[in-house]
Amino acid sequence: MVLDVGVGIGRIAKSIVNEGYQYFIGIDISTKILDIVGSNLCTCSNIELVMADINDFIPTDTFDLTCSVLTSLHIEEKEKALRIIFHSLEDNRLFVLSVSKDDDWFDYGSRKVKLHPIELEEYVCIFLSTGFQIQSLQ
Ligand SMILES: C[S@@+](CC[C@H](N)C(=O)[O-])C[C@H]1O[C@@H](n2cnc3c(N)ncnc32)[C@H](O)[C@@H]1O
Repeated sequence: MVLDVGVGIGRIAKSIVNEGYQYFIGIDISTKILDIVGSNLCTCSNIELVMADINDFIPTDTFDLTCSVLTSLHIEEKEKALRIIFHSLEDNRLFVLSVSKDDDWFDYGSRKVKLHPIELEEYVCIFLSTGFQIQSLQ
């Protein structure tokens, strides 16, 4: 069972689903985005798309793999979110986090979105204090 935190329009979801996982849950805080990903993934089965803030999403001991690509920048309470993700995984399962180095704001043209970037060292501290073991940093 796979969880994608901040599924967006399904860019990462598509390739995960094609790998043949039994069940995929994608969560996103935006209903507009979920409408788009719903139609992008409409041919895929065993997929659940949930409108949720990661900081309120709390099934425990459920997932074999959780990923989050470029979503952490949007999350201010990172330690809380990573603790929830840690507890949502079954024991010794994998979490893949991908972030980029960004400015404090992302400019969409018509609107600007506040981002919450932190340094790699801060991520490492939060991961370790949350209970994760780090396998690889790239
Ligand atoms: C930059 S997009 C990345 C989407 C996708 N992971 C990708 O790489 O294509 C970040 C996504 O995270 C979602 N998001 C932001 N804050 C969130 C939160 N607290 N909980 C769940 N999703 C969130 C946004 O709505 C957006 O769809």
